Amino acid sequence: MKTRHLISTTALTFALAGAATANELRDYAEDIFEPLPSTIPALADNPVTPEKIDLGKALFFDPRMSASGVFSCNSCHNLATGGDDNMPTSIGHGWQKGPRNSPTVLNAVFNTAQFWDGRAPDLAEQAKGPVQAGVEMANTPENVVATLKSMPQYVEWFEASFPDQDDPVSFDNFAKAIEAYEATLITPAPFDAWLNGDDDALTEEQVAGMELFIDKGCATCHSGVNLGGNGYYPFGLIEKPGADILPEGD
Ligand code: HEC
Ligand code: HEC
Repeated sequence: MKTRHLISTTALTFALAGAATANELRDYAEDIFEPLPSTIPALADNPVTPEKIDLGKALFFDPRMSASGVFSCNSCHNLATGGDDNMPTSIGHGWQKGPRNSPTVLNAVFNTAQFWDGRAPDLAEQAKGPVQAGVEMANTPENVVATLKSMPQYVEWFEASFPDQDDPVSFDNFAKAIEAYEATLITPAPFDAWLNGDDDALTEEQVAGMELFIDKGCATCHSGVNLGGNGYYPFGLIEKPGADILPEGD
């Protein structure tokens, strides 16, 4: 009896100590990270409606948006393989090898800016790039609009998505619809549930990994809502690495 009592008290003490540290750790982690929301975020100048999401989805998967009729957004941002193509650099129009790696479109809506160099402020601006890039879809805005207008179903979808406009089938609206669809590509994970207060969402090993991630300085750059993508930083926290590490050119 006595021994048993002792064991349960010890267990209780440990459990309480564990709970206290778990909460402390969460408070600490909440200062550094932010959970992904489970609902679609609002977009600047682009109200998200079910019609617009459906239109954007059709456009995202449609290879007719490329000059060759071969490449869609999904060719390089394959949603079945994590939102990218899993190649060092992408292959586009005429099977040309592009100069850069395709980042994932999953959770891209939370990036401070788009592209590796941040040259597009948001997803709508971004979506106009690949359509026109010679190594990607090699098309022109005029040709995209003409192609879309030639298909009555698309005209109907644009009218339903932009009901107040006289001429809704435009390159700007093409980009806005894709942006609305991409805003739905969000993937809250166990880590986000843990940040939101669910202790059981992560295993002990995973929590230990997160502590290491913070301790080792990874979280200096990988912080905020998407574990990164919230800023642009020079390589080398302490000093700029030499040519042995920095790539030539890009
Ligand atoms: C031929 C391959 C290819 C196609 C097709 C393509 N992309 Fe990309 N995408 C890339 C590459 C490569 C980058 C990075 C380029 C850069 O940073 O200069 C990129 C960047 C992006 C980004 C920025 C993500 C980030 O984290 O910065 C988004 C969003 C995106 N593409 C969406 C699209 C959409 C929408 C389409 C269709 C309209 C599309 N892409 C078509 C290869 C492609
Ligand atoms: C000085 C800022 C900085 C620090 C510190 C840093 N990273 Fe990164 N990390 C980046 C940048 C920028 C990229 C994207 C560029 C690239 O992939 O070459 C990246 C890419 C990554 C990726 C690939 C992500 C993807 O989507 O492909 C992983 C994983 C990663 N970092 C983990 C870590 C870990 C683990 C640590 C700590 C040991 C760490 N990083 C420290 C800036 C940093």
